[in-house]
Amino acid sequence: MKGIRLRKPGGLDRLELVDIEEPGAPGPGEILVRLHASSLNFHDYAVVTGRMPTEDGRIPMSDGAGVVEAVGPGVTEFSVGDAVVSCFFPTWLDGAPPVADFSTTPGDGVDGYARERVVRPATWFTRAPKGYSHAQAATLTTAGLTAWRALVVNGGLKAGDCVLVLGTGGVSIFALQFARMMGATVVATSSSDEKLERLRALGAAYTINYRKHEDWGRRVLDWTGGRGVDHVVEVGGPGTLPQSITACRIGGHIALIGVLTGGQGMVPTAALMARQQRLHGFIVGSRQHQIDMVRAIEAGGLQPVIDRTFPLGEIAAAFRYEESGKHFGKICLEM
Ligand SMILES: NC(=O)c1ccc[n+]([C@@H]2O[C@H](COP(=O)([O-])OP(=O)(O)OC[C@H]3O[C@@H](n4cnc5c(N)ncnc54)[C@H](OP(=O)(O)O)[C@@H]3O)[C@@H](O)[C@H]2O)c1
Repeated sequence: MKGIRLRKPGGLDRLELVDIEEPGAPGPGEILVRLHASSLNFHDYAVVTGRMPTEDGRIPMSDGAGVVEAVGPGVTEFSVGDAVVSCFFPTWLDGAPPVADFSTTPGDGVDGYARERVVRPATWFTRAPKGYSHAQAATLTTAGLTAWRALVVNGGLKAGDCVLVLGTGGVSIFALQFARMMGATVVATSSSDEKLERLRALGAAYTINYRKHEDWGRRVLDWTGGRGVDHVVEVGGPGTLPQSITACRIGGHIALIGVLTGGQGMVPTAALMARQQRLHGFIVGSRQHQIDMVRAIEAGGLQPVIDRTFPLGEIAAAFRYEESGKHFGKICLEM
């Protein structure tokens, strides 16, 4: 079968389409999955460009979706023909987070899903939402689950809440969609007026160009009548956090998940304290969070926004497209 291996020290020209040995039959508790799709995330980009070094020959990509082709002895959760989607933290099944790194994450600490078939413990996957294409399902592992956990699991999102999302990448568009699905009002930013129009078409009530208006936090606060938003899905990091603190209400919740403007920097701690806000850093979520999210998606009918899909062999072009920042929502790979 075909797959992608990343040669050290990384770089988009170090992604090689190669022959990979077929996996054997699934053992006890395992499933054989015919992978059909993956999706790109900023984390995968950091791995393939060598910013987050991995082993020589690593098979990249954390997100994988496909069909169960065989089940090993003792597997009761899945049957042959089931559509499944991979878990970002395959060994974090439920409860409090046991991991603080990417050592167990497919496509980083262990081989990922840029290939056609894989045998893994059944618990490394969950059911995909009914009616989803494999590409749609593949968007859920990282981006979908991060947005879900930010708002629903950690944020306790409820109808009537106001949610601020930053930019139009995969996580932010999912956050907009979950917020709308659950009856919340959405405020959204982008560097592009054309993308702002698309955000409004997806249900954003107020949009603002963060390039043209550096004081976007104050403008969002004003738009809410001085109250501020209940939740911010903070994908920017140090370059955006001060504005997010301004935009967020007293006692509001900021989900700190992204590093788009860098991994460290100044935080206006006095403003955060004075406004009594809850700043919660986290990475993706557990298998149980994913099961709950799939259930909610089926009930709510959410359809992921996929900008473009590339064949597996064009993985470098797909990452170049992500790098360009032209995308709106998710970029996918198909095997
Ligand atoms: N903690 C976690 O569990 C977790 C999980 C997934 C992702 N993340 C992180 O979240 C971030 C986003 O990930 P992603 O996969 O959604 O990325 P992505 O799809 O590549 O998103 C890129 C988009 O972010 C927007 N952006 C860039 N700089 C910005 C800024 N200064 N202010 C506002 N928006 C900005 C741009 O939108 P416009 O073109 O509209 O301006 C850009 O198109 C990354 O830092 C990633 O590492 C964290």
